[in-house]
Amino acid sequence: MFILAGKFFLCFFSILMYENNTITLAQPNFIYYHCQNAGNYTKNSTYQRNLETSLSALPNTNSGFGFYNLSTGNGNDRVNSMALCRGDVDSNLCRSCLSDSVVKLPELCPDQREAIGYYDNCLLKYSNETILGYNQQGLMVLVNIQNATDRDRFTRSMMGLLMLINNFP
Ligand SMILES: *[C@@H]1O[C@H](CO)[C@@H](O)[C@H](O)[C@H]1NC(C)=O
Ligand SMILES: *[C@@H]1O[C@H](CO)[C@@H](O)[C@H](O)[C@H]1NC(C)=O
Ligand SMILES: *[C@@H]1O[C@H](CO)[C@@H](O)[C@H](O)[C@H]1NC(C)=O
Ligand SMILES: *[C@@H]1O[C@H](CO)[C@@H](O)[C@H](O)[C@H]1NC(C)=O
Ligand SMILES: *[C@@H]1O[C@H](CO)[C@@H](O)[C@H](O)[C@H]1NC(C)=O
Repeated sequence: MFILAGKFFLCFFSILMYENNTITLAQPNFIYYHCQNAGNYTKNSTYQRNLETSLSALPNTNSGFGFYNLSTGNGNDRVNSMALCRGDVDSNLCRSCLSDSVVKLPELCPDQREAIGYYDNCLLKYSNETILGYNQQGLMVLVNIQNATDRDRFTRSMMGLLMLINNFP
């Protein structure tokens, strides 16, 4: 009986190993994503090639503080992409979050020129329109429903950070 159980376990284990070697693990789902249906690109178009180029190189454009941006191509086929990690997320987690998002978002939005996806650790957006600056549409509020242990202290820190953002040029 013991031997049988042992053999079964070994067999199960080797199947797992085999699968790990041959099957790419799927990217986790976004907390929220949106495919903008305003304009679609056609399969194998220049836009699609520019999108692929942009997304594969985007993770190498770290500004040094978890912000990434890259534009590829010209005119109607120009793709603007950007990504942002949460400020407290370390660079390895950030990179792994970006690797997931650049695969997952075009998979979920296979036709759209513009899309945005939010993980807990990072967000990714791309569009044929300019995406940096203050002309942001469709801003999303995601609420973390956990309560701060010290509400006053948390609020003071938060207000300090928000005021810093307001003073940013
Ligand atoms: C874009 O493609 C999606 C399917 O992926 C479709 O639902 C949508 O209607 C298309 N939008 C336009 C403007 O063609
Ligand atoms: C982006 O694509 C949409 C839909 O094809 C188009 O109407 C718009 O003019 C494009 N914007 C730019 C900057 O090319
Ligand atoms: C896109 O290109 C690939 C490889 O060149 C081809 O197999 C596929 O049929 C093309 N798809 C479309 C929709 O043209
Ligand atoms: C975006 O990337 C360009 C280089 O491709 C750089 O010049 C620019 O400063 C970046 N913008 C921000 C806001 O980091
Ligand atoms: C957070 O605090 C509110 C009261 O301010 C309470 O109603 C809620 O249940 C708390 N949530 C959690 C997750 O503890």
